[in-house]
Amino acid sequence: MIVLKTGRELNIMKEACRISAGALQTAGKAVEPGVTTAELDRLAEEYIRSQGGEPNFKNYEGYPATACISINNEVIHGIPSAKRKLRAGDIVSIDLGAKFDGYHGDNAATFACGDISEEAKRLMDATRESLYEGIKAARAGGRVGDIGHAVQSYVEARGYTVVRQFVGHGVGTHLHEAPEVPNFGTPGRGVRLMPGMTIAIEPMVNAGAAGVEVQPDGWTVLTKDGSLSAHFEHTVAITADGPKIMTLI
Ligand code: MF3
Ligand code: CO
Repeated sequence: MIVLKTGRELNIMKEACRISAGALQTAGKAVEPGVTTAELDRLAEEYIRSQGGEPNFKNYEGYPATACISINNEVIHGIPSAKRKLRAGDIVSIDLGAKFDGYHGDNAATFACGDISEEAKRLMDATRESLYEGIKAARAGGRVGDIGHAVQSYVEARGYTVVRQFVGHGVGTHLHEAPEVPNFGTPGRGVRLMPGMTIAIEPMVNAGAAGVEVQPDGWTVLTKDGSLSAHFEHTVAITADGPKIMTLI
């Protein structure tokens, strides 16, 4: 069931999203060689709690941390660890969210650790831009397939691939709500977009083939071919005046 949010609900959700964005920025600024992913996770959790929020990934289906931190060929759902030190040249995807007053925010971004290759920069830029193309397509009266098509065509025109096994989603009083928001699709197909819908759009883009596999830890998703992967995500409200990005500071 797709839940449409009232203006009052959107205002509360805006606060959950502001906290989510602040936590992402806080963790992202701390990305540098030698820092552990557990340290980034701790900074994010402290920020969320300092703002009166709660980390909403923690204990979600048993997930053990505030953030998912996924490096290089790791696509999503990397588990922070005190044993995992960042190295110069890594690209570091951080995905996290906050719950505030019953509503969820969800966002992600990929950060450069020190100097990274031109190839890695291009992948990050294309993934970030594909998110904005998807957001532009998230208009009331349109369809979910418009979003996926916008993301997919932008990504594939640059020689990259979109991950298909994982998708964006509605977000509200639950972290994951209907509808699913794939990063591929056909214009004019899928669920109709309506004012009051709130969705997380989150392209996961591989430099190589689209295939992914889950690690034995049951969480970490890797590219099958070992290629680099990037991930950007915003929580977005569909309004009569167009899409509004909620996860801004
Ligand atoms: N990364 C997922 C999303 O953005 C949610 C995290 S699932 C968790 O939708 F279990 F890792 F928390
Ligand atoms: Co999400």
